[in-house]
Amino acid sequence: MCGIIGILYRDKSVAKDLVTGLKLLEYRGYDSAGIATLSNGSILIEKDKGRIDELNVKLGFESMPGCVGIAHTRWATHGAPDKINAHPHTDCENRIAVVHNGIIDNYNEIKSELVRKGHIFKSLTDTEVVPHLIEEYIKNGYSFRDAVIEAVSRLEGAYALGIISTYEPGMIVGVKQLSPLVVGVSDEGMFIASDINSLSPFTKDVIVLDDGEVVFLTGDSYEIVRLPTRERVVKKVERIEIDTQFADKEGYVHYMLKEIFEQPVVLNYSIRVQEHYLNLMAELLDRSKEVFIIGAGTSYHAALLGSIILSRVARLTTIPVIASEFVSRYGDVVSVDSSVLAISQSGETIDVLKAIEFAKSRAATILGITNTLASTLTRVCRVYIHQHSLPEIGVAATKTFTGQLAVLYRLAMVTGKKRGKLSQREMDEMKVEIAKIPGVVKTVLDRVDQQVRALAKKYKDTRYFVFLGRGLSYPIALEGRLKMLEITYIPSLAYPAGESKHGPISLIEKGVPVVFVAPPDETRKLIIGNIEEMRARNATIITLGDEGDNELRELSDDFIPMPRVYPLFSPIPYVVPLQLFAYYTAVLLGRDPDKPRNLAKSVTVL
Ligand code: F6R
Repeated sequence: MCGIIGILYRDKSVAKDLVTGLKLLEYRGYDSAGIATLSNGSILIEKDKGRIDELNVKLGFESMPGCVGIAHTRWATHGAPDKINAHPHTDCENRIAVVHNGIIDNYNEIKSELVRKGHIFKSLTDTEVVPHLIEEYIKNGYSFRDAVIEAVSRLEGAYALGIISTYEPGMIVGVKQLSPLVVGVSDEGMFIASDINSLSPFTKDVIVLDDGEVVFLTGDSYEIVRLPTRERVVKKVERIEIDTQFADKEGYVHYMLKEIFEQPVVLNYSIRVQEHYLNLMAELLDRSKEVFIIGAGTSYHAALLGSIILSRVARLTTIPVIASEFVSRYGDVVSVDSSVLAISQSGETIDVLKAIEFAKSRAATILGITNTLASTLTRVCRVYIHQHSLPEIGVAATKTFTGQLAVLYRLAMVTGKKRGKLSQREMDEMKVEIAKIPGVVKTVLDRVDQQVRALAKKYKDTRYFVFLGRGLSYPIALEGRLKMLEITYIPSLAYPAGESKHGPISLIEKGVPVVFVAPPDETRKLIIGNIEEMRARNATIITLGDEGDNELRELSDDFIPMPRVYPLFSPIPYVVPLQLFAYYTAVLLGRDPDKPRNLAKSVTVL
């Protein structure tokens, strides 16, 4: 994780813009931050533990002088989140400064060698080997440029690096291996950054680097070389249109709340993704002998639901798998006849990318659904669909989850049609019904917000929550549980309701809140039985069910009435109250829902 940015201007200071970019990268990690600039032949560094805004005031980031600089926001892997371990890191003489996103696997071996040669290390990070190793090559007579190439050729693992040095004060070097890095170009100067969004205030013209590439930026030019051959690579600058509105909370207290309320609008975009790409993907899915759908966290919940939808609507069997488990579970059966559909909001989750890399090496077809243009996922897929949910800043996924579901519904419909499993009439009916979903979500938001706020107040001090659902609602129970535990830190369980009596029921005692996701579909009858089982053990029942369902209402201590919805599409509106429930509970407990502890939005370490 971690976010890095580097800016080189011809004739203005970079510090203010580094802070702007850094704040847009804060979703990648936020336990500490730092900036290094080059000024009057020296490297100046300010860094510490804490959030960027606080550090900006405390350390005066924005007033640091210099036209060349690099910056970092950290999610700790090696070494506690404190000042010493915060980036940038330097060599012994403070002539080389480095920011890094990723993990250098062989840092111990390099560190021991450098310590034997007399290098003094200040931090516990893996990153610090990089400036010292470059320094060592320079001592041995290499130019700065060659020293960087020699040094990074020795690194194993994942790394996006930004490097500045007093040896070449008019240069920033960027290196990409497995962690993302893009180059930005503008009339005023050059940029590197972990993502395109963070460059959006400065330029739309970008070059996406590939693994093994090193870029040397100077005021008005850039040169890219590819390792290990060191050949020069010519890459074209792409113009990427990014909506910059996302950076504003637009009056909401938190991004998460804004993003929950944005769903009626952005769901319209996801439902309307281009038919052409859906058709291409459907064609490839239909041709495959087996289809795996992979994802991590919330995206895995979308994968699970996608698998159910594809089975119901397109009669296509697919295997949903948590990305990090994919290779060990199914590696031996992946072949040229397999397709892997990867779901990833960021398109950069390393567990997903590793699974894909493996599947690709076995000649499988790679497909993707993502919210991030020009992400690594988009570059490795045979076909990908951009879900158009607009950038999501809150660490907890909300609008991008419902956007993923909308795309999966559309994909299932197109695949069902192609496979002859849906009649034109059924297809037309589904098209009409799915078009109503953004409106249904709007109604839910208008109607339940106050009620859910009150529920959060009532239940915020519970020791734990249990979330139960059946069929299409089981992934929604999982997602409600994940939202709750990740931002409130209240331990929570989710189970298929039918499975609850095979163990989890032993946790039930008087007053334990059990949340049932109970839309009016084929599971409702059985869910009633599960509610009765929990009531018999004095659990407190919170139910999301159809507004006209008086039986459910009477069985529940708290009933959240949901508008009537086409049963197949119930997961989208039904997850919304659960997002709000987690959000309001977190706020009442004094947690920051946008930046939960220990988490980061883009998980780029294995
Ligand atoms: C939960 C959450 C994470 C992500 C997961 C995958 O709210 O946001 O669980 O869903 O890290 O991220 P992507 O979708 O970017 O691959």
